[in-house]
Amino acid sequence: MASNGPVKDKVLTLETLNPCVKVMEYAVRGPIVARAGAIEAELKQGANKPFKRVTKANIGDCHATGQKPITFIRQVLALVTYPDVLMKSPDFPEDAKKRAQRILGACRGNSIGSYTESPGLLAIRENIAKYIKERDGYPCEPIDIAMCTGASDGIKSILTLLLTGKPGTERAGIMIPVPQYPLYSAALAEYNAYPIHYYLNEDNHWGLDVAELKRALNEAKANCKPRAICVINPGNPTGQVLTKDNIQNIIKFAHENKLFILADEVYQHNVYAKGSQFFSFKKVLMEMGTPYNTMELASFMSASKGFMGECGYRGGYTEVINLDPEVKAMYNKSISAKLCPPVSGQAVMDVITNPPQKGEPSFEQFTKEKETVLAQLNEKAKLVTSLFNSIEGITCNEVQGAMYAFPRLHLPAKAVEAAKAAGQTPDSFYCFALLEETGICTVPGSGFGEKPGTYHFRITILPQVEELKEVLGHFKDFHLKFMAQYK
Ligand SMILES: Cc1ncc(COP(=O)(O)O)c(C=O)c1O
Repeated sequence: MASNGPVKDKVLTLETLNPCVKVMEYAVRGPIVARAGAIEAELKQGANKPFKRVTKANIGDCHATGQKPITFIRQVLALVTYPDVLMKSPDFPEDAKKRAQRILGACRGNSIGSYTESPGLLAIRENIAKYIKERDGYPCEPIDIAMCTGASDGIKSILTLLLTGKPGTERAGIMIPVPQYPLYSAALAEYNAYPIHYYLNEDNHWGLDVAELKRALNEAKANCKPRAICVINPGNPTGQVLTKDNIQNIIKFAHENKLFILADEVYQHNVYAKGSQFFSFKKVLMEMGTPYNTMELASFMSASKGFMGECGYRGGYTEVINLDPEVKAMYNKSISAKLCPPVSGQAVMDVITNPPQKGEPSFEQFTKEKETVLAQLNEKAKLVTSLFNSIEGITCNEVQGAMYAFPRLHLPAKAVEAAKAAGQTPDSFYCFALLEETGICTVPGSGFGEKPGTYHFRITILPQVEELKEVLGHFKDFHLKFMAQYK
C-alpha cells in the first residue's frame, strides 16, 4: 500500500484529534464485529472452523438477516425513482402509482433527485401528522414534524439544541438509561455533554423506577446542568414495553425537574407480549392534561425497524411539541444547514404512514406481508425468551417488544478471573468465545452499560425462524461447555 507520508506532517494525529471523537464508543459495530468480519474472510479462504457461516446477531438490520422487503414500499420507491417508464407499466398497482405521483408532484422538477424543504416534503409530513393523530387521538401538525436521515440523525439534532456550549460542570446533563442503545452515549461523548446514567430495573422487566431517576439526577447535579431525559420504548437492548402508569410517572418526574423529554419510539410497531401495548409519550402527556400537556417533547420514529426494516434508506422523523417559538426557529435553522434528508427515505416514511387502505388494490398483500413479519418476530421473541430461561446460568426477561433479547449471564468466578487475565470484561470474553466456537456474533452487555457485577449480552431476534432455532441450539451447547470449563 502506498505510504500516506510521515505522521509529523499531519494536521491530524491521535494527539491533535478532537478528544471527544477519541472517547466515543459504539459497541454495536465494535471489535467483536470486526473479528466476525475477519472470521468470514477466513471461512471464504477455506479455513477449518466448527461452523460454516457467521451469524450476525449483533445488529438490528432486518433485511441483512433475510427479512423480505414489503412489496408496496419497494413499488412506490421504484416508481418515484424511474417514473418515465414504470408509471406506464401494467406491473405496478394503481395505489402505488397514486402515491408515487403525489410524492413526485411535491418534488421540485418532479424528481426525487432535487432537494426538498429541510424538514422534508410537506406532502409527506401531512401524512405523518395524520398517522400520529390517528395513533394518539390528539392533533398533530406537519409543522411539528421534521424528517431526518434515520432516527439517529433526528436524535442528534435535538441533542445539539440541548448543549450549553460551556465546559466542566456547566455542561448539559442528559439522562440516559443503562443499558442503553449506544447512539446516546456515543453522541454525548462526541458533543462533550454529561451522561446521567439511570439504571433500568432488571428485576421489574427493565422498567424505570422513579426513585432511581431521582438518585441519578441528584448525584449528577454537582457535575452538570441537567436538561433532558431520554427514554427508549420499546427498549433496546432490553426489549421492555413500558406501561402507561410507568410513562405517567416518568412525565411527572421530568416535569418536577424541568427536563426536556426525548422519547425514542422507533420500535412502536414491535410489541409482542400478551398484555403489553405501545403508548406514545405524546398521547400519555396529552391525556394527563395541565400542566403536563405543555411540556417540551421530541419523539422519534424510523423506517429502519417495525415490519419494514428499511435501514438502508435512512428514513425517519422527529415530532417536537411545545417548543418556545424562538427556539423552534433556531431548530429549523439548524436542520436547514443539512439541506434535507434523502428523498427516497422520505418516500419510505410516506408509505409507512399512509399504507394501502381497505378497498385499494394492494391492501390485502400489504397487510399480509406486514402481519407475517410481525408474527414471525413474535414467535422468535417467545422462542428466545423460553430458551434462555431454560438454560442453567442464564436468566432473561421476556422480550416484550423491539428486536433483541438481553439475557443475564451468571458466570462462575473462574470465568470472571479468566476474562480479567485476558484483559477483557467477562461478557466480552464470553461473547468472543461464543463467536470463535459457533460463529454467532452478539454484543457484550458492557457495550450498552450494565449494573456493576452483572454480565449480559445482546442478541437480535432477527435471523429467520429455522436459522434462529439452529443458532440457539449451537448457543446452548456452547454455553454448557463454557460453564463446565470454568466451574
Ligand atoms: C433505540 C434506537 N434508536 C434509534 C436507532 C437508530 O435508527 P435509524 O437511525 O436507523 O433510524 C436505533 C437503531 O437500531 C435504535 O435501536
